Amino acid sequence: MDRKNFVAKLKIGYPYLRQPARVTFGRGSIKEIAKADDLQDTVFFVSARSEVRAAVDAAFQKQGVTLNVLRMLPKPPGEPSLETVDIGASFLGNQVPRRIVGIGGGSVMDWCRLAWAQQQGLLTVGSGSMARARDEARPRFWLVPTTCATGAEAAGVAVYSCGGRKVAAVSDAFVAEHAVLDSQFLERMPQKDVATSLADTLSHAIESYCSIVQNPLAKEAAVSALWLVLEHEPSTNPCRNDRLMEAGYLAGLAASHCSVGVVHAFAHTISRYGVSHAQANAIGLNAGIAVNAGAEALQTLARRVGLSGCQALVQALTPIMNRAITGRDHRRLVAVLADEQRLHEVIAEMKADVCLRTNPLPLNDNDLRGFLDRVVAAIGHA
Ligand SMILES: [Fe+2]
Repeated sequence: MDRKNFVAKLKIGYPYLRQPARVTFGRGSIKEIAKADDLQDTVFFVSARSEVRAAVDAAFQKQGVTLNVLRMLPKPPGEPSLETVDIGASFLGNQVPRRIVGIGGGSVMDWCRLAWAQQQGLLTVGSGSMARARDEARPRFWLVPTTCATGAEAAGVAVYSCGGRKVAAVSDAFVAEHAVLDSQFLERMPQKDVATSLADTLSHAIESYCSIVQNPLAKEAAVSALWLVLEHEPSTNPCRNDRLMEAGYLAGLAASHCSVGVVHAFAHTISRYGVSHAQANAIGLNAGIAVNAGAEALQTLARRVGLSGCQALVQALTPIMNRAITGRDHRRLVAVLADEQRLHEVIAEMKADVCLRTNPLPLNDNDLRGFLDRVVAAIGHA
């Protein structure tokens, strides 16, 4: 489908916003998961990180719940894949629990929803297309992010890898009944990792606002997310981490309705070289702003958060991006981008990525080469 027809197709129907029915937020709010009255009919998909498990255990112990009555599956290593989705589906067995709780980063929240879809036979794994779920087969999803990165808790989409590429499954049934934003997880995280998480949030906010997909309500969420990060990231206020978790949620909400752009096309492409999604966004964000500097929406967004334009936006973001990418090992990516053959492959894959279709400006091979030149410069300075 060419760009003109793609845009025309996107305009069919009224815009809408689908979002979790309830969002609980604030430090310590994870205890909400232990208060529910249907714990016997709840299963938990949980990050394998020890600090996450410790926070979950503490929440239940405070409520006097004995942990051995809970059905809990720690996430296997890596991003969701067909293998880990099948592990989750087997864990669910033949029954549909009333409630499925996912606690962790975006990969855990995606994994628990995909595991249910697979258990129900709803997912066509090659394409990611989802059959409609019967109402009685739909569990209530409760999602508890432990980073301020993906915003997956706000989205009706779950991503997994299949045959070396990323596949997105979209379903109304994936939209959480309840999202819980507990900032205590950020307190235990090194600031370098907080900065890396924020790169994904910032990329969602900026790319969704500038996307060609028109959804004014979702774009307002993007403006708020960007403002929250710019205002609170440098602060030492005790509420700082609360605001960053809220920014992650709002940016995820915007991205799930408006899609994203070239920075995400880049992140999806280089994931095969071991670069995490958030780290790739940190590496590519300023390059993405530079190649889209001519887009009116980007200038408008900068002004709406009190900045004079794109250059001022880059300046405001640079301390966060530098913290995220400095001191990391970029040698593998540098080697890939220095090899002319593999550089061509990266450009070809970026062009094939669905996110490039919603970038505010159409980008050709030369534009993408310019983007990658800026990437090389950014990691060269790191
Ligand atoms: Fe992202």
